[in-house]
Formats: sequence, C-alpha cells, structure tokens
Amino acid sequence: MKILGISAGTRNGNNDSMCKEALMGAQEAGAEVEFIRLLDLDIKHCTGCIACVRTLMSGQGGICTLKDDFEWLKDKILDADGIVFSVPIFEKGALGMFRTLLDRFGPRMDRANNVIGTKIARENGGKEPDQRVLKNKAVSYMALGGSEWTTRVQCDMELFSLVPMWKTINNEVFDWSTNILLDEERINKVNKIGKNLAMASLEADNAEYLGDQGICPHCHSRNFYLNNDSSEAVCCLCGIIGEIKVTDGKISFYFPEEQLSHAHNTMPGKLIHVNDIRGTVETLKDMKNSPVYAERIKKYKEFIQPLRPEN
Ligand SMILES: Cc1cc2nc3c(=O)[nH]c(=O)nc-3n(C[C@H](O)[C@H](O)[C@H](O)COP(=O)(O)O)c2cc1C
Repeated sequence: MKILGISAGTRNGNNDSMCKEALMGAQEAGAEVEFIRLLDLDIKHCTGCIACVRTLMSGQGGICTLKDDFEWLKDKILDADGIVFSVPIFEKGALGMFRTLLDRFGPRMDRANNVIGTKIARENGGKEPDQRVLKNKAVSYMALGGSEWTTRVQCDMELFSLVPMWKTINNEVFDWSTNILLDEERINKVNKIGKNLAMASLEADNAEYLGDQGICPHCHSRNFYLNNDSSEAVCCLCGIIGEIKVTDGKISFYFPEEQLSHAHNTMPGKLIHVNDIRGTVETLKDMKNSPVYAERIKKYKEFIQPLRPEN
C-alpha cells in the first residue's frame, strides 16, 4: 500500500516536517511512502478553457491543454492508495497553490463527470477517462497556521476529496504552529494521522472519517452561508440547506433528510449539478446565435483594452 505525502510549505519548513512525520507514521503502519513538495513543481493556473469537460463529455477522455507538471502530479496522486497533505494557512484558508491544484482537479476529476464520460466513451467507442479517478481512496489533511486565523482552511482542503468523492480520514488544523517541531503532543498527533491514513487505505471502500466532528453532521464542515431573509443556513462545503439551532449552549445544524440527495459530495447531488450546468451550456449556445449577444460582446470588447506591463 502506497501513501503519498504532499507538502505545500517552504523547503524543510514546518509543513515539510509534519508531512514527513505523518509519512513516518504511515510507514510504521506498513506503508510504502513517497513525498512531494508542491512548490517544487510547475503547476499553472487553470484558465477556464473547459477543454477537460468538453473532452470528457464528448467521449474523448478529459484532456487539459496546459503543459506543465500537473499530469505527473496527477499520476502520482492516482497511483497512491492514500494521500496526506500538509498545507500552510494563508489569509485564513489554504495557500493559493492549493486552490490552483483544486482548480486543475476541478471538473476533470469530478466523479459524476467521469462516470458519464466513461459511459459516453463506451457507447461511442471513444477514449475512456482515466479509470483510476473512480477508485476509492483515503485522504487526510493537515493545515498549519502561525496564528488562530484559520477559519476557512478545513473547508478549502475538504474540497479536494469532494470532487472525486474520495474518503477523508482526518482534516485537522494546527493553529499557533510556528514552534510545532518542539511540541511532542502535536508531533504524536501528526504521526497518528499518518497511521490512521495507512490503516484506512488498506480498505478505502469501507474507510471511516476519524477527524474533527465539526458542525454539519453530513460533511463535518464548520462553515455556513446565512441568508438574510430566512432562517436558512447553507453548508458551505456540501451545500445542504437547513437551520442552525442553539440548544443548551450548543450549536447544531438540522436539515430535512431529502437534502442528502442534493449534497455536493453524493452522486445524486453531483448529477443534479451536471444537469444544471448542461442546461446553462445549452442556453449559452442559443444565446451566442442571437444578434444582441454579438452586439454586446462587440461593445465590451471595444470599450477598453487590458493593460499589460511593458516588455
Ligand atoms: C502570505 C502569508 C499569509 C499567512 N496567513 C496566515 C493566516 O491567515 N493564518 C495563520 O494562522 N497563519 C498565516 N500565515 C502563517 C503561515 O501559515 C506559516 O508561515 C506557515 O504555516 C509556515 O509553513 P512552512 O514552515 O512549512 O513554510 C501566513 C503566512 C504567509 C506567508
């Protein structure tokens, strides 16, 4: 069983060290381990060209037009049985490079898109998407911050699991972590995260979440979007709509059972999303044939040109 550690920190910094500690734990539990430092790689920002979705949905396998180290990284990720991330907290969330990784994973690694893409390719004799995406996998996250400004990061990290529907085992925040290398208790916790992941990766199909329980009973998120004109609260991660209640000084999130079929980390929820997007793509296609559209595009195109630095 292979566990891949990915650190998004500086060379030999706290994230590298904690990622390696988790890998040591995984190795002690019998795993073969590999380590990648994200900032060593050339990973470009997603440009939004949607070639990946277009090729998936036309039975051509899901191709990214960018040429960089992403394909190599994706192969390493898909070959591993389990992945542990150690991610520095920047501006309360995961650093931008992690968001870039999410964007590049985005629609291309989405489980529903890959199930549909596989069906289309099989029916039409096209190219199947990489079937490793559809294999269950265990993933753990550790976020390291220099203070207590940490409130978005678990949500950012869990999105990586949500897209391909891989199983999160631990999703932990280490605030005030500048001196973590001198903190035996936290180092032991990190080592345990590595062991948990290795054990879970042995049987990813039946793996259980072992982390912080959070507030959303479905996805464990602590982040909610509150609507002004109603008592509704939307879980920022899984999209479930419910209500926040305070009972005996304790906050809980309640939602009707039927909301589960809309959750963004379930296949029915993903299929609803795929259909919704399909609808908007069709509308755009029709819109592009209209003279009003052509006129408006021309107006904005001609109004002002983007500035660029000289040379
Ligand atoms: C641009 C930037 C923004 C940061 N923002 C936060 C923050 O919002 N919250 C926090 O707890 N730490 C913040 N930090 C501290 C980093 O999380 C910390 O430096 C990092 O975990 C160190 O990791 P390394 O030793 O692996 O490089 C920030 C650091 C930088 C450079």
